[in-house]
Amino acid sequence: MFTFTINLFYENMNKTIIENTKNFVKQKLENAEAGHDYWHVLRVLKLSEKIAEKEGGDLFIIRLGALLHDIADAKFNNGDETAGPQIARKFLQTQNIPDEVIEHIVKIIENISFKNSFEKQKFTSKELQIIQDADRLDAIGAIGIARAFVYGGYKNNPIYNPDLKPIQNLDKETYKKGNTTTINHFYEKLLKLKDMMNTPTGRLLAVDRHRFMQEFLEQFYKEWEV
Ligand code: ADP
Ligand code: NI
Repeated sequence: MFTFTINLFYENMNKTIIENTKNFVKQKLENAEAGHDYWHVLRVLKLSEKIAEKEGGDLFIIRLGALLHDIADAKFNNGDETAGPQIARKFLQTQNIPDEVIEHIVKIIENISFKNSFEKQKFTSKELQIIQDADRLDAIGAIGIARAFVYGGYKNNPIYNPDLKPIQNLDKETYKKGNTTTINHFYEKLLKLKDMMNTPTGRLLAVDRHRFMQEFLEQFYKEWEV
C-alpha cells in the first residue's frame, strides 16, 4: 500500500513536470521557423514514445529529451551550440529533478543533431538513440519534404539547379552553412538517414518514408524535363 502511494506520488509529479516542460517549450518556440517549431517537437515526442514502446528506455528522460531537443537550435542562434543545452539545464533545475537525470538530458540535447554525425560521437544512450531516430524520421517522408522546402525557403535557396551537383563528402561547416539547392539536400542528407537509424524500430519506420522521397524525386524530375 505504502509503495503504491509513493509510486503514484512520483507518477503525478512526473506528469506535472512533463506538462510544465510542454508549456515552457511551446512559449519558447512561439516564433520559430515552421520546420523547427512546437509541432515538430510534438511529432518527435510522439515518435519517440512509439519507438520506446518497442525498444524500452526511460520514458521520463525520453519525453523530456524529445521536448527540449530543439529548444535553441544553433542555426537560429548564430551557430552557438551551447545555448540549447544551457537553457534546458536552467529550466530543468527549476523542476526538482535529480542532477544525474538533468545531466543525461543535457547530454542528449548536446549530441542529437545531425551536424554532430560528422564528428566522432562523444556520448550515447538508449534514450538518445531513440529521440535521434524520432528526430530523423521527422526529417524524411512527406513531412521531411515539407520541412526541407520550408528551410530552403527560409535560406532563400533555389529549389533545384541541374548544374549544381550534390556535394559527395560534405563536412560539418559546409553542411551548417546550408547553401545548397533543396533537391541537393536530399542527396546530402535526407536519403542517407534511413541507413543511419540507431534502433531496429527506427529502421523499420524509415522504410516507407524513404520510398516516398524517392517517388517524389522521380516525379519532380519528370515534371522538370516535361
Ligand atoms: P538536426 O535537426 O538533426 O540538427 P538539421 O537541423 O540540420 O538537423 O535539420 C532539421 C531540418 O531542416 C530537417 O528537416 C532538414 O532537412 C532541414 N534542413 C537542414 N538543412 C537544410 C538545407 N540546406 N536545405 C533544406 N532543408 C534543410
Ligand atoms: Ni529536431
